[in-house]
Amino acid sequence: MPARLLKDGVYAVGAVDWNERNFHGHTYVTRRGVTYNSYLIVDDKITLIDTVRKGFEKTLIENINSIVRVSKIDVIIINHIEPDHSGAFPEVLKLCPGAKIYGTERAKQGLLKYYGLSGDWTSVSSGQSLNIGKRTLNFIDTPMVHWPDNMFTYSPYDKILFSNDAFGQHYATDKIFDDEVDFASLMDEAQKYYANILWPFNAIISGKLSAISKLNLSIDFISPSHGLVWRKYVSEIMRKYFYWSSHSCKSRIAVVYETMWNSTAKMAEKIVEGMISEDVEVALFDVTKNDRTDIAAYMLDAEGWVFGSSTHDGEMLPVIAGFLHFIKGSKAKKRMSFVFGSYGWSGEAVKCIENIVSSVSALSPSLKVVFNPTSVELDKCFEMGRAFAVKIKNENTT
Ligand SMILES: Cc1cc2nc3c(=O)[nH]c(=O)nc-3n(C[C@H](O)[C@H](O)[C@H](O)COP(=O)(O)O)c2cc1C
Ligand SMILES: [Fe+2]
Ligand SMILES: [Fe+2]
Repeated sequence: MPARLLKDGVYAVGAVDWNERNFHGHTYVTRRGVTYNSYLIVDDKITLIDTVRKGFEKTLIENINSIVRVSKIDVIIINHIEPDHSGAFPEVLKLCPGAKIYGTERAKQGLLKYYGLSGDWTSVSSGQSLNIGKRTLNFIDTPMVHWPDNMFTYSPYDKILFSNDAFGQHYATDKIFDDEVDFASLMDEAQKYYANILWPFNAIISGKLSAISKLNLSIDFISPSHGLVWRKYVSEIMRKYFYWSSHSCKSRIAVVYETMWNSTAKMAEKIVEGMISEDVEVALFDVTKNDRTDIAAYMLDAEGWVFGSSTHDGEMLPVIAGFLHFIKGSKAKKRMSFVFGSYGWSGEAVKCIENIVSSVSALSPSLKVVFNPTSVELDKCFEMGRAFAVKIKNENTT
């Protein structure tokens, strides 16, 4: 993808990774691919904000060269050291060895660990700024959004917030602005991104958002390091971040299960029928057939979390076990749950699940049945689903 003008003097020079499907190892299934955004500001001092993943340095360097020779770069700002943004840093630095580098002290330490170099480094933190000509760039450190080294860079001249991972979406496209793609797909990807990358840091994010909103920054663009630049929907995405980071959720239920011979699946389907009879929003996920990334995105604002597994060798089944450990990492609050499952003789799965999810949700009594559920037991499942849906609805009207 060639370099594109974002606004006078500011260019998007990053790379599109159309075919990346497993980001962060196998923790994030990126069905729409990924972009690594990097921004070039042409002012008295030529300034590069973040780089790209290793393997994409050629694209980055070509894009920069199409505007100004890489050797002319005076300043590199490192908002975040994770390899998807810093991988090309050593290569770029070789071509502009005199550049001055700015980032948090943690970022410097991280770059030294990853690459054994940090260049002509200056550590910065909130309240500090850098004049590059017409523009003065302000730094806002944002530790744990989502690594300790993260920071934002704000350009009052352009009214652009360079937010790095925050406000990102994994969305490979030939477009650069939010209003150039389908809005619903964009928000789905933003929600998926939040659920899978930022959710555990809710408290920090909501604190930072409040602090930033008190600064009354005028923001025409939010330029993240992944996906589309927000220009039309800046207030929408801000509102969403306030909503998600405050653990807000709605009358929505996720039923997630794993089964061997379908007994637990039959229970799950009846539970869902009971929920639907109360007209509550519900989705049923066989955890072996869905990407955990998508299930987590749905669960982000679902108040009801219901989990099922049959018992296998005194344990829950292995795929749901992995999923629940992943979900526990969300450190979610304000959720309600119950657990169900079929078993043969000892039935430990339900307790095993409860032990994991009790830290992220309030548990109602569980339901276990031996082998294939009878029609009476299926009626019980329906009733449990129905009653749980009523609880969820009441919770959201009080
Ligand atoms: C390999 C294997 C291991 C099992 N281990 C246990 C066990 O340790 N304790 C138990 O109560 N049932 C155990 N069962 C029985 C299942 O939990 C029981 O068949 C259940 O009805 C399966 O439900 P499902 O069709 O939803 O998978 C095991 C079944 C299999 C196939
Ligand atoms: Fe990151
Ligand atoms: Fe990233």
